[in-house]
Amino acid sequence: QSIINTGKPYSFRQIISKSTRICKCFSKRKFSDISRRFLSFDEVVAQRRAEAKRSLVVQVNSEASFNELYGYCSKYASVNGIHHYKNSGDEHFMLIEFKTEEESKKVIHSCSSHQKDVDVMALHSPFLWFRAVSGKKEAFQIPKSQLMTTKGCNSIDEDNLIEELANCEDVSEQIQQMHDRTALNDLGVRLRYMVARQIERIFESLYANIVVRPFGSSVNGFGKMGCDLDLVLTNILNEEMCDSSKRLVYQEKKCEGGRSPWQRHMELVGELLELRVPGATRVQRILHARVPIVKYAHEFTDVDCDLCYNNMSGVYMSELLWLYGSLDPRVRPLTFVVRRWAQTVGLTNQHPGRWITNFPLTLMVLFFLQQKGKDGCVLPSLKTLVQYAGKEDVRLAEENLNCTFLRDMNKLPTDTYGQNKANLETLLLQFFEFYAQFDFHDKAISINEGVAIRKPNTLPLYIVNPLEQALNVSRNVSYEECERLKLEVRNAAWLLDAGLDGKKTDGWGILGLIERKSTRGLKNLLKVGNSHRLVSVKDLFNNDDDKIEKVNAKRNSE
Ligand code: GTP
Ligand code: MG
Repeated sequence: QSIINTGKPYSFRQIISKSTRICKCFSKRKFSDISRRFLSFDEVVAQRRAEAKRSLVVQVNSEASFNELYGYCSKYASVNGIHHYKNSGDEHFMLIEFKTEEESKKVIHSCSSHQKDVDVMALHSPFLWFRAVSGKKEAFQIPKSQLMTTKGCNSIDEDNLIEELANCEDVSEQIQQMHDRTALNDLGVRLRYMVARQIERIFESLYANIVVRPFGSSVNGFGKMGCDLDLVLTNILNEEMCDSSKRLVYQEKKCEGGRSPWQRHMELVGELLELRVPGATRVQRILHARVPIVKYAHEFTDVDCDLCYNNMSGVYMSELLWLYGSLDPRVRPLTFVVRRWAQTVGLTNQHPGRWITNFPLTLMVLFFLQQKGKDGCVLPSLKTLVQYAGKEDVRLAEENLNCTFLRDMNKLPTDTYGQNKANLETLLLQFFEFYAQFDFHDKAISINEGVAIRKPNTLPLYIVNPLEQALNVSRNVSYEECERLKLEVRNAAWLLDAGLDGKKTDGWGILGLIERKSTRGLKNLLKVGNSHRLVSVKDLFNNDDDKIEKVNAKRNSE
């Protein structure tokens, strides 16, 4: 193109020489694109942490405060971008990202404390509010490059989602759309890192080398809008801090008394959250659990937080899930629809109990995608990721737990995964069919092996903990809940299969699986003459499931 566009007459030699240069440039770019297709989890986390360090969240009167706030802040620092959102209390907030951390600090140090009350102790926090002033407002010219994004970060309207899904071309598009519309968006991630940064700043003055890291669904790529925030407080001593050649050593405080030191530190964390963290409310201490946690709600961001200490295995587990999700674009949409289906049929529940939770459910999806069908698998086993790990991938979590596996997916040979090119619709149906036939009685699910292994005990559901293989992540699941899981996967397989006749009747495709409190899919199934299949579920399990009763009643009345 550049040769043609200049319009000059070129000799043959000149054309060859120029073309060779262009080809070299092109192939160089192409090569680097191919060799660096995947970002690592650590790179993404580092970017997000840096972003949070140069950002502030400001409560404002309304969306219209944007211009004024922009003008005010740009007197102190250059603004990268502003995002607007509202919390559930209908209060307006703007997340401002500055060019550098230094600049955001400059803004923080220029703030005032709004009370003249000596009982309210001042505090430097990245959560601020913007004082309204009377009189004529200054107008500011905002450069186009700093346009405000006003996506918000609240869960999307359920009716709109259902309508959009009903209007999709096919089931694969529905699954993709459901993921795209409900996945945690950029602002949701930014705010979660801000919440982590806020307490990190406060704890920094008390503990050396402290980091507060988000883990779980907020960062593992499987989080939906409004998901909880799991946080871990780590206080890791690096080699330099333990250097025995240094002669000056800190006098340190040993924690005395019978209780575990970290239970006591977590008690302090609870107190600090109540006393020193603006926006933190409803602080609950659950300190006698295996992993002691402090729960709190962050009212400025509407995020429910679970804070624990030194649980690095949780972070590495999130990294593992994130890596699996980034390897193939079908993994996350498929997991989203499965999680949503499980919620709709009541297999999962937001309260802990005898039922399955999202984490083991995600492992079930990954395990299914590791199965080698006639076309091969979608995902490699964890054993393969361990096999390709190098020195740089060695990680030890608490109690010397080995969490070593390949971190840089660019190094994973392409023939170890992705041979199966089935679309999302096929994969979803196969997922339900796979578990409808799975031998839960004798077999355990292990993403380490990528194949079912013999169950080491008689617990109803056995899903091997990928990082601690002697443990079962679904040990809490009761016999009844496991039976319900088996029943529901069969129902889902039948529902989906029956709806794949190309007719877009009411509740077609995934709608029959994910619409809340609806027997639409079942009714539809009756219309297309498949009711015998559902009745066979009742015969098979002798289960008086509510839904099947409804179908039978409907059939009798018809
Ligand atoms: P939602 O909060 O339901 O959206 O999903 P989540 O993935 O965040 O699950 P959850 O909050 O229950 O757990 C947070 C993270 O802790 C998970 O993503 C895992 O990384 C880890 N985790 C959860 N359960 C277990 C478990 O039984 N064993 C271990 N080692 N880690 C777990
Ligand atoms: Mg969570």
